[in-house]
Amino acid sequence: MKNFYITTAIDYVNGSPHLGHAYEKVLADVIARFRRLMGDKVFFLTGVDEHGQKVQQSARARGIPPQQFCDEVSAEFRALCVKLDISNDDFIRTTEPRHKTVVRALLQKLFDQGEIYRAEYRGFYSTRQEQFLQDKDRHPDGSWPEIYGEVTEITESNYFFRLSKYQAWLVGFLKENEHFVFPRHRQQQVIEFLAEPLNDLCISRPKERLEWGIPLPFDEGYVTYVWFDALVNYYTAVVDKPEFWPANLHVIGKDILVPPHAVYWPIMLHALGLPPPKQVLAHGWWSINGKKMSKSTGNFVEPAAFADNYGVDALRYFMIREMSIGQDSDFSEAQFHARYNAELANNLGNLVNRVLNMTNRFAAGVIPAPELTVDEMLSEEFKGKYEDEMVLRLSWGLVCTQLIGAYEKFEFHSALASLFGTFAVTNTYIEKRAPWKLGKSTTPADQALLRTSLAMMAESLRIGANLLRPIMPGTADKIFAALGYTPQVTWGPGLDENQKMRMKELEWGTRLTSNKVAESAILFPRTEPKAK
Ligand code: MSP
Repeated sequence: MKNFYITTAIDYVNGSPHLGHAYEKVLADVIARFRRLMGDKVFFLTGVDEHGQKVQQSARARGIPPQQFCDEVSAEFRALCVKLDISNDDFIRTTEPRHKTVVRALLQKLFDQGEIYRAEYRGFYSTRQEQFLQDKDRHPDGSWPEIYGEVTEITESNYFFRLSKYQAWLVGFLKENEHFVFPRHRQQQVIEFLAEPLNDLCISRPKERLEWGIPLPFDEGYVTYVWFDALVNYYTAVVDKPEFWPANLHVIGKDILVPPHAVYWPIMLHALGLPPPKQVLAHGWWSINGKKMSKSTGNFVEPAAFADNYGVDALRYFMIREMSIGQDSDFSEAQFHARYNAELANNLGNLVNRVLNMTNRFAAGVIPAPELTVDEMLSEEFKGKYEDEMVLRLSWGLVCTQLIGAYEKFEFHSALASLFGTFAVTNTYIEKRAPWKLGKSTTPADQALLRTSLAMMAESLRIGANLLRPIMPGTADKIFAALGYTPQVTWGPGLDENQKMRMKELEWGTRLTSNKVAESAILFPRTEPKAK
């Protein structure tokens, strides 16, 4: 069994969860579930980032102590994970003692090694971004970009981490690990960033300016810079499970790739003598109805409320179907409804209803055995007779191989397109075979074809539901239950060296023969858009 450690970014608790947070968790969950089905031993971490200026300010604005504020907002993030069917194994909060202990131990180690030094610093500081700025951050006319908010010049004595010392090492590391960042064009972004000399990283904040943080172990007059604290969460969570280090995949948004995850983090680990993560996946950003999401203008989707209205799997489906990871995407509500009706209700929902309905009408609710094996159908004797069965059978075989490949490459949106294309092929098969016509005939040949077609339809659904498991786990379970079927925990041992399927669960067969199906199943009740 291979270990697979996957994480999401930990969210700031200065506001409630939004669609971007929901998406990232669902995306990581899809990967975690896929790896488990492939037989890996997965450890999946998510959590919240609770220190720093923004949280301190938000708590002050509410007039409550920061810890109480964090407790309240963290609970919302935790509840969102449950609501979205996220299969995380751990939920970390950076205010937990287990985390503070690790951060302090790592800081002390770096300090003892001489990787951290104290120096006077005079520079321009952005309170909003909690960072010192450089001349290169200015607009050509000398003004500061809006994202920095108010910028003031300050002088401070602070502690610095020797980031610059490791620049050459990082450049070499990226050359050797071409796939460190996914998608590829973002790795290029990191390389371009490293074309300029790195500055050492200021990792302390004087307590007069910021109290809400982890005190430096070697100088209690300072707290730790929030990014230095936050990145360490990935290590904290597995400190007692060393078999999971290094992490296999950090799932994050494109805004926090350079420099935190692709520069600070690998260098911090390297300086500590720890191996860097295997890969970082940086997804694009969501806009809503064509505009930047914003609570103040009302251009906002509450993910939990959305899941309540339309079902969590409809939301998961839409987000994964719509976003190609390398690009940004728009959460258009019109597009959501279009996909909901055409793809979920009319295609998959309809297929499930037909299978149940016809098995009940024409086989007393018991899935019949197909009349012939696939090999027999292909034989000379029946030449041409079972062409439709063959098309269906081959379509499912093909989509299984394609999907495994697409899931491996994080091409989930195209995986869903092929899968739903194959559900459509199955619906077309049903229309061609028209079991409702065969059911009226009493000839043995028609009765045999009817049994075969019912078996083929049900088996298509069993395989399709299996392939849906990573993305729509609840829906897959409902389909299995309706077919009276319990799938294996994993798909099987994996692909062999010829990339051939050895995955028992995905092999075409007759496992459903004699199963009693449900009367009906409602997967996607057609809902009209509800007023917000
Ligand atoms: N606390 C830091 C991360 C520390 S990781 C050691 C942070 N938090 S955040 O709450 O601002 O963002 C959390 C994640 O949500 C980030 O990966 C970010 O890219 C993602 N998203 C925030 N807004 C988003 C969209 N509009 N769309 C998609 N993802 C977005 O950064």
